[in-house]
Amino acid sequence: MLKAVILIGGPQKGTRFRPLSFEVPKPLFPVAGVPMVQHHIEACSKVPNLKEILLIGFYQPNEALNSFLLKAQQEFKVAIRYLQEYSALGTGGGIYHFRDQILSGGPQAFFVMNADVCSEFPLVSMLDFHKQHGGSQSYVILGTTANRTQSLNYGCIVANRDTQEVLHYVEKPGTFVSDIINCGIYLFSPSIFQHIAEVFQQNQQELQLEENSSWQRMEVIRLEQDVFSTLAGRGKLYVYKTEGCWSQIKSAGSAIYASRLYLSQYGTTHPERLASTKEGGPTIRGNVYIHPTANVDPSAVLGPNVSIGMGVTVAAGVRIRESIILHGAVLQDHSCVLNTIVGWDSMVGRWARVEGTPSDPNPNDPYSKIDSETLFRDGKLTPSITILGCNVSIPAEVVILNSIVLPHKELSRSFKNQIIL
Ligand code: GDD
Repeated sequence: MLKAVILIGGPQKGTRFRPLSFEVPKPLFPVAGVPMVQHHIEACSKVPNLKEILLIGFYQPNEALNSFLLKAQQEFKVAIRYLQEYSALGTGGGIYHFRDQILSGGPQAFFVMNADVCSEFPLVSMLDFHKQHGGSQSYVILGTTANRTQSLNYGCIVANRDTQEVLHYVEKPGTFVSDIINCGIYLFSPSIFQHIAEVFQQNQQELQLEENSSWQRMEVIRLEQDVFSTLAGRGKLYVYKTEGCWSQIKSAGSAIYASRLYLSQYGTTHPERLASTKEGGPTIRGNVYIHPTANVDPSAVLGPNVSIGMGVTVAAGVRIRESIILHGAVLQDHSCVLNTIVGWDSMVGRWARVEGTPSDPNPNDPYSKIDSETLFRDGKLTPSITILGCNVSIPAEVVILNSIVLPHKELSRSFKNQIIL
């Protein structure tokens, strides 16, 4: 029997995702039409013998999360539970705190996945690889290749070329270590808890020397720095390298990129989710997802890489490219939306143009990953996609370029390169 854990973090995490994470917990933000973590859950549901998925995080349980989990449980026919940490315990602390729940029922192994990654989730291949590389005494990290500069933003892995054993692991190194990076998807045997327990005991000893030390500080454990770095070179940690698509979803810009990757996967995994040009319907270019409740005028042109959410209205002559339109938004006649996320219930007026600059990986560099973006560089706003927070209103005939508009704003003119508070 197998299990899976998805680390969903909590409200203080995902700050680069603002203003979108004000409205919905980041793990539920729709990517290619479905909540970010649904892609993980769906992948888990296809693994034979995977009996339970545990989401671990420090969000207060809320209506949105509960109803999503209930629906996912029914749709994917797998048990799913949310376990709430009393505070942020780190990527290793949460799983250690809930180890009894993870181990109940005696799983032979369990996956651990960061919620904010987009992947093809080669879980079955990881299982086969695990069996061939030490089985119950070993642990597998999913790895991919990045270019030298971008590798510095990730966990970096030096591995034995023949055996794929991880010899050296450095989390976000200051200088180049390796171009193999950690994808944030792991397969652990239950014995991993012995190694996490060692870190816990070490924390305990160190903190006993301090006055006013708290239990919470002992429980904070980082899988990457505290566990992987020490396990490297001990014949227990292996890297399974994937050639498949992978990216992080840190910022809103990377959500558009991840959406593109998932939409292109739908071609093989879910062709029914992709729209096509039909008699009397809108013109579709490339991969486009349209929620069945959306109302799209036949004269609109959509794509490539567009996701249209629930109850969205797309009026006559509208053009949308490389964008995510969230539920309830209204795009009025002849508006144009490019490289933008339009927030829930927002309105774009007639003939308005809302446009951002994509932050795509370099197409000439096969190992280029989307970089963690910074909003400001040298005190200036860096060009980014445009984001309209929820319930924003854009008047007719204006241009909004490379800007971020906070929720509930009613604009009255054009803006360029600004954060509109
Ligand atoms: N439950 C819980 N508790 N989840 C957490 C916590 C915590 O205290 N802290 C982080 N997470 C979750 C986040 O929500 C996210 O899904 C994941 O764990 C990793 O978050 P970060 O700590 O922000 O790390 P990172 O994304 O910068 O880097 C990690 O992921 C990269 C791949 O995307 C590392 O594992 C890197 O080595 C890796 O390359």
